[in-house]
Amino acid sequence: MRVLVTGAAGFIGSHMVDRLLSAGHSVVGFDNMSTGQQRFLESAIAHPQFTFREADLLDRKSLAGAMEGAELVVHLAANADVRFGTERPRKDLEQNTIATWNVLEAMREQDCTRIVFSSTGSVYGEPDIFPTPETCPFPVQTSLYGASKLAAEGLIQAYCEGFGLQAYIFRFVSIMGERYSHGHVVDFYQQLSEHPDHLHVLGNGHQRKSYLYVQDCIDAILTALEKADGKVNIFNLGTDEYCEVNDSIGWICEHLGLRPKLTYSGGERGWVGDSPFILLECSRIRALGWRPRLSIKQAVLATIKFVSADAAAVKAES
Ligand SMILES: NC(=O)c1ccc[n+]([C@@H]2O[C@H](COP(=O)([O-])OP(=O)(O)OC[C@H]3O[C@@H](n4cnc5c(N)ncnc54)[C@H](O)[C@@H]3O)[C@@H](O)[C@H]2O)c1
Repeated sequence: MRVLVTGAAGFIGSHMVDRLLSAGHSVVGFDNMSTGQQRFLESAIAHPQFTFREADLLDRKSLAGAMEGAELVVHLAANADVRFGTERPRKDLEQNTIATWNVLEAMREQDCTRIVFSSTGSVYGEPDIFPTPETCPFPVQTSLYGASKLAAEGLIQAYCEGFGLQAYIFRFVSIMGERYSHGHVVDFYQQLSEHPDHLHVLGNGHQRKSYLYVQDCIDAILTALEKADGKVNIFNLGTDEYCEVNDSIGWICEHLGLRPKLTYSGGERGWVGDSPFILLECSRIRALGWRPRLSIKQAVLATIKFVSADAAAVKAES
């Protein structure tokens, strides 16, 4: 199968590329390198079945060209940061909603009919039901990121109905693991590198979060592609457990051998749109035989190991 992966040089995208190539597919990677990193594509670039197009999803012509002959689009490119939405409201609209509409239009033009879309558990805002199922009512949107992803989900569903596309929409919890490049583990690591005796935490540290290991996330996507055959297939992706931000801090500090003084900005939320509690009901994807291999603690430890080894390697090179 020929697959176009948008966001191919990103954290999740580069793993997706590697997995698709090792399964024997031919892959076109598409990325504007805004947060993507060339080194994440090192092994892909050496693979004869991989081609890379550095371009922007807002450039419709490049996108349609890259999609030629593709049977599946794995659309992972986005502004993936929830945190700075209110500082740059246009960004979520452009990078998440309009960019997705461009992908859909290019699919129509190129007769490509299957799409995987990386949505987010943030679309549930602050739900009343835990664990939160895919059928949960959406009470209120709390982040521009979540709202822009939900709008993109809506466009995808309407294109399935109107133009005969088939969609696989995944609402992820936060993803952890090798090549992790943004999120609380990086923030904490950077702070502790600068001042090992002090860590400032956004919120009160009691936010309850669910995390998923990146290879488990990709396993779930590939399982759904193989086994689900509805017109619009929507899956939550997460583990059946949660931890407090304070637990994650404990594991990170233990791994680094540090005992910093903790200070907190206070409040139940670290920033506008931060959900105090995320726990997704994942029985729909589990019914297809998928199980996460790593626990939350193992996923956080894999991440801090990667982040600290990566920082040491970058320092040694410079
Ligand atoms: N990482 C998580 O915890 C998480 C959780 C929920 C959902 N998601 C979603 O998963 C997807 C991948 O996230 P990630 O963590 O790998 O993020 P990432 O920032 O590492 O990857 C996104 C990639 O898209 C590229 N990109 C961004 N805008 C583009 C554009 N206009 N044109 C072309 N390329 C563009 C970036 O350069 C980057 O390589 C995103 O859609 C994100 O919203 C991620």
